Parts: sequence; C-alpha cells; structure tokens
Amino acid sequence: MSPRSQTQAHALGAREVLPVDTPRSVLLDKVGNLLGSAAPTSAGAGIQRRFIAASAALGDLLDAAASDGHIPIAAINGSVEALNRAAEGGDLDAWLDLVWQHDDATYQHCLLVSGLVAAFAHRLGFGEADRRLITGAAVLHDIGKARIPLDILRKPGKLTAQERKIIWQHPQIGYDMLVAQGGFAPTVLAAVLSHHEYLDGSGYPQGLSGKQISDPVRVITICDIYAALIERRPYRAPMPPEEAYAILIGMESKLDLDLVRVFGEVIVAASTARLGRRVETRTAPTRRSGGVG
Ligand SMILES: [Fe+2]
Ligand SMILES: [Fe+2]
Repeated sequence: MSPRSQTQAHALGAREVLPVDTPRSVLLDKVGNLLGSAAPTSAGAGIQRRFIAASAALGDLLDAAASDGHIPIAAINGSVEALNRAAEGGDLDAWLDLVWQHDDATYQHCLLVSGLVAAFAHRLGFGEADRRLITGAAVLHDIGKARIPLDILRKPGKLTAQERKIIWQHPQIGYDMLVAQGGFAPTVLAAVLSHHEYLDGSGYPQGLSGKQISDPVRVITICDIYAALIERRPYRAPMPPEEAYAILIGMESKLDLDLVRVFGEVIVAASTARLGRRVETRTAPTRRSGGVG
C-alpha cells in the first residue's frame, strides 16, 4: 500500500487498490460492485452481486470459526441481507445455479440451505424481523462443522461409525461456540443445536420430540435435509428435486408435513422458473418410504 505501489497499480489500470490482508468479505464486495457496475442493466447482475456478498461473508464466518472461534456478527448480517433481498426477487433458481458453481461442499451446503430458508420464510409470510432471524440461523446452522477435521467432512465415500460420531458432534460444537461468544438470539442457538432433531424423537443430539422442536427449527431442518439430497458431489449424481421432495414427504413422522407441503410450493416455483416460467402441470410426488440421517 505504499504510494508508489498504488501509483503503479493505477497506471496499470487498477480501479481499486486494497491491502493484502483485506478481509475476504470486503474484497469480494468490491469485486461484486465492479461486476455490478459493468452490467448494471443485466437482470442476473443483482442476484450475482448478492451471491458474492453472501458467499464472502460466509467465508469470513467459516475462517473465524475454524481459527479463534470469534464469529463476526457483521458478516452474518451482510449475508442475511443479501439472502433476503435475493429471496424477495423470487429467483431461487438463479441462486441455486450460482450455488452449484462452488466446489467446496461446506460453502455449497450453507449457501443452499440459507437460500432455501430465505425463500421458504418469504413464502410463509414471515415479517422482516423474523426473516432476518431465521435466515441468520440458517447461515450459522452448521458452523460447528468448521471444527470437524476436513478429511472427514470431505471424505468422498461412506463414513465409518467412528467418523459419523465425530460429525454428529457439530450441532453441540456450534452451539457451545455461540454460547461462549454470547449475544446470539435463542432462535439461532436452537437452530444450531437442534437442526438434526426429528418430531418422533429419533434425531440428535438430544432426541427432542414434538413441541420441543420450534417452528423455525422445523423450517431449517426441512431445508437442510432437502439440500443434502440435491447437493452436487463429484462422486455421485445429484438427486432430482422431485425425488428429493418425495423423500421429505415420506419422512412423515419425523417432519412437520404442513410445512413440507408449503416447502413443495417453494421448490415448484423454482423449477417453474427454470423452465422459462412456463406454466406446467405437475403430478403430486409419490409417497415412498425412506429417509436420510
Ligand atoms: Fe448439520
Ligand atoms: Fe446442514
């Protein structure tokens, strides 16, 4: 950042000069603004800018969680803002297309779940404050995974029983991190701790059931399972949305089916957008047994 370096940079055509240790969120925000100003009239530019902002904020969150454990609140707020404005634009489909460009599975998953939750909350008619809260909870839901060894998280094949036990610690790890830092809303803490709980008591880590699981947690759990099913992995083909939705419907004792039905409208809307917003007739998904852990 010496005056000489900056002069040289500008002579080479630089439009922005930043110090080498600039936080990723600031760096990518600048890049996003440059992209946006290059194509101000493009319909996709807005969502792309929001996606860049959310994914940069997520990068800062995950880095912080993996190192000293202090979660930057500003990064969460930035990402929530980007997600909710994207959800208001109603273009979940365009968001998903951008998500698939991320090759890091944890980023892909967090951005996917958060995008789905933001769209779902919008569909459910949540007010602005509740949408902020639940989208923030979705951004943070798997923050405990930042402390799980990468060779387990990124293992391409089937996990051993021991590895599965380690992964199952992530809700408690995330919850403990947020409680230790302080200042997080009860909704956020509940989502981080309980997003793998099922209504029939078969989930983890506490085996909660029925009314012990709040509505925001139920919403996040539905999006989390659906996301895990449709995620893209180099070693397996992605599951088509209809098939993934049929699995949700089949998990009838575990999930809130009234919410699952509304969620169906969210993903049908996204699929319809993909098909050029043509009106299409869809048959109801078939019921089948099975589920995911
Ligand atoms: Fe999780
Ligand atoms: Fe998750």
